[in-house]
Amino acid sequence: MIGGAGFIGSNFIRLVLREKLAAHITNLDKLTYAGNPANLADLEDLETSGGYRFVQGDKAEPGLVADLLGEDAYDAVVDFAAESHVDRSITDADAFLQTNVNGTYQVLEAVRAHGQGLRLLYVSTDEVYGPIAEGSFSETDRLSPGNPYSASKAAADLLVLSYANTFGTPCMITRGANTYGPYQYPEKLIPLFITNVIDNKPLPVYGDGCQVRDWLFVLDHARGIWTALTKGEIGQVYNLGADQERRNIEVTERILAILEKPKNLIRHIEDRAGHDIRYSLNCEKLQALGWRRTVDFEDGLEQTVAWYREREDWWRPIKDGSFREYYERHYAARLLAAQETAGDASQESAEGEAT
Ligand code: NAD
Ligand code: TYD
Repeated sequence: MIGGAGFIGSNFIRLVLREKLAAHITNLDKLTYAGNPANLADLEDLETSGGYRFVQGDKAEPGLVADLLGEDAYDAVVDFAAESHVDRSITDADAFLQTNVNGTYQVLEAVRAHGQGLRLLYVSTDEVYGPIAEGSFSETDRLSPGNPYSASKAAADLLVLSYANTFGTPCMITRGANTYGPYQYPEKLIPLFITNVIDNKPLPVYGDGCQVRDWLFVLDHARGIWTALTKGEIGQVYNLGADQERRNIEVTERILAILEKPKNLIRHIEDRAGHDIRYSLNCEKLQALGWRRTVDFEDGLEQTVAWYREREDWWRPIKDGSFREYYERHYAARLLAAQETAGDASQESAEGEAT
């Protein structure tokens, strides 16, 4: 598999190996800022016994995936590797095109050259459909990505499907909803806000916070990928959502409530450019293969908060390290502007009360 040192990939590897669904996994990962060997540190016993092997490398390097495939008799490639954060793609899309588009092209070439007997599952996202104000997208709906991240994922999806159509390459795609749970890099909404609340830091909500996401617990996502891989059909796309839609402000308030912190930590800051208002998926196709969500949002969020509370050893080195510089660059000016606006408003209302 590729990209297994990140959030969803590491949860997938742990699930598959601990439940002995597969005998062996080789994990090729570039170890970008989001890839972290600590996510799989508990698999040392399997590394010794040969059940798990880690290889550091870039999926976009021509020939690398093909060479690895030639070393062993693999049944499947599951490709999680991507640049995955929308905000970073707005600041600089270069790495998104390199990994998500060129890198996926290299993976496709390797699987195509390998021939039959190997299937590729490409892990994609609900964001390729773009926003939907009402109702839900089905797998046959048109792709209309709204930001550079989702455009690069949509380009990869179309390449994957084109290889299935043109060369008969045995590929399939899952399109997952917003995922949360243990080991998520603290740049995404839920882990960022949990860790900020623990430190009594402000919560930077983009705009009015009324955008809606469908929240999928990471182990439900991992099981859905396994279902698609083992029971799905070649050439098909499977939506993977949770039917747990929440507005961002609701998620924020819930995190504050679980951690018993006040709502005045919330800051409404300048909105994300091109912010998609809502994502929603129709998942009947994967459900017909037997997959069901098992974790509802309230339980999953409590489990996730508990994990971040217990695992400061995991997230503090990230937040105190390279993430700090990103946070400053991305949030400092907008947080300051929000504070000044709030200051002006409270001064105006104080003056109003005085007159
Ligand atoms: P992540 O950012 O946590 O991890 C990505 C992993 O890919 C990291 O380990 C990184 O080192 C690795 N990687 C990046 N570029 C690479 C390259 N060129 N070669 C090899 N490895 C490389 O991402 P995630 O949240 O675990 O997402 C995994 C996949 O699922 C992505 O494809 C993403 O688009 C998709 N997805 C994510 C979500 C979500 O909410 N997180 C939802 C739906 C779909
Ligand atoms: P995010 O976790 O970045 O996932 P995505 O953009 O892929 O959906 O963001 C989830 C939602 O939370 C999205 O509507 C943007 C919003 N958001 C904030 O309001 N503040 C933040 O600091 C972040 C990171 C996200």
